Amino acid sequence: MDKIVVTGNGPLSGQIPIAGAKNACLALMPATLLSDEPLTLTNAPRLSDIRTMTELLSSLGAEVTALNDGKVIAMSSHNADNPMAHYDIVRKMRASNLVLGPLLARHGRAEVSLPGGCAIGARPMDLHISALEAMGAEIELRDGYLHAVAKGGLKGAVHELRFASVGATENVLMAASLAKGTTVLKNAAREPEIVDLADCLRAMGAQISGDGTSTIEIQGVDSLHGATHPVVTDRIELGTYMLAPAITGGEVELIGGRRNLLESFCQKLEEAGIVIEETANGLLVKRGGDLVKAVDVVTEPYPGFPTDLQAQMMALMCTAKGTSVLEEKIFENRFMHAPELTRMGAQIEVHGGTATVTGVDRLRGAPVMATDLRASVSLILAGLAAEGETVVSRVYHLDRGYEHLVTKLKGCGAKIERVPENG
Ligand code: UD1
Repeated sequence: MDKIVVTGNGPLSGQIPIAGAKNACLALMPATLLSDEPLTLTNAPRLSDIRTMTELLSSLGAEVTALNDGKVIAMSSHNADNPMAHYDIVRKMRASNLVLGPLLARHGRAEVSLPGGCAIGARPMDLHISALEAMGAEIELRDGYLHAVAKGGLKGAVHELRFASVGATENVLMAASLAKGTTVLKNAAREPEIVDLADCLRAMGAQISGDGTSTIEIQGVDSLHGATHPVVTDRIELGTYMLAPAITGGEVELIGGRRNLLESFCQKLEEAGIVIEETANGLLVKRGGDLVKAVDVVTEPYPGFPTDLQAQMMALMCTAKGTSVLEEKIFENRFMHAPELTRMGAQIEVHGGTATVTGVDRLRGAPVMATDLRASVSLILAGLAAEGETVVSRVYHLDRGYEHLVTKLKGCGAKIERVPENG
């Protein structure tokens, strides 16, 4: 397995193009199951998670073709007659659970394996299940699979989520689009990826309003038609690369970046002393010679500070002036990067869902590894600012969520290489 070797070599400067959002694309792809006509996604990211979703949809009978070097995904579910999502694929990626709602809407039944344990917490499916049950589905767990049946089809319902789950909101949006009657989902997630899915479903003929707020109303229609939809910009990739010049100094322009995707994150960076300017092509992020100030962070559902940027923000705080407290409120076990950053000389204490980081003058390179995607990239960011060589293994985590990471950082002057494990 490959490793990434990064050597801190001072300020970065240049431009980084931001790809389409992984998390949006993973929700948009299953929407193909809602129509017999073609659904085409443009601005798709080239990532292993997208290939896993391709494999899953193909196993369900959909035709999925990557065009234009993977930036366009053309799908047709005309022959998708298999309602069973097998454990062998689902276990690779939790987002596989996003086929549950569309399969139920299409076939009136679905068998979807439970995704199993995940490195960042338990991540159960109860919110998805109770919402679909409110819409008339009967769901039981047997042999590790959710067996769902909607006799007579799904029906619109008024339902309130116990927690504003992104995945549960997406499953309801898709299922309710073809249900009989009107669904009102309360305490819905408000992430930009939800709005992107609603935009795509509307382009397919769905009747949805209120997306982007906590109450979404969906009037079911008899059928959906084909559409072409551009995937929204990846705000987590954007935030990750905004942190690169923040951590090393210098200035980098993020092409395609928009501040309104990440307002609370931008405010935290500014509090820390980073300058963010909107340009004609995106966002320009600058840090002069000054030290970054320590800031406190609490992760929350959108529009709060995203949990998917907590690890990367922690890397920045490792060399900030002062002490910062990072509270993780979304996932119960999302500080696996802390001991790895400590190996690079960081001063971090973790108690439950809270990490206290005291800034040090300099991080030092070390061999490190991480057990999830965002933790891995936080180690790359730390490596950019560290003295000496940092070797990050288990690169497959990065391939799940960052296309051309090495090329993008190299383009801004970073000293970074991907090498084979025995290289
Ligand atoms: C999505 C994102 C992920 C991000 C997360 C939170 C995708 C593909 N992934 O994941 O990158 O970190 O949102 O912004 O879009 N929960 C339950 N029961 C459920 C469902 C969730 O208790 O049925 C809990 C989870 O354990 C977690 C919290 O709710 O603690 C948030 O999960 P959720 O919003 O559902 O995240 P995902 O959709 O899995």
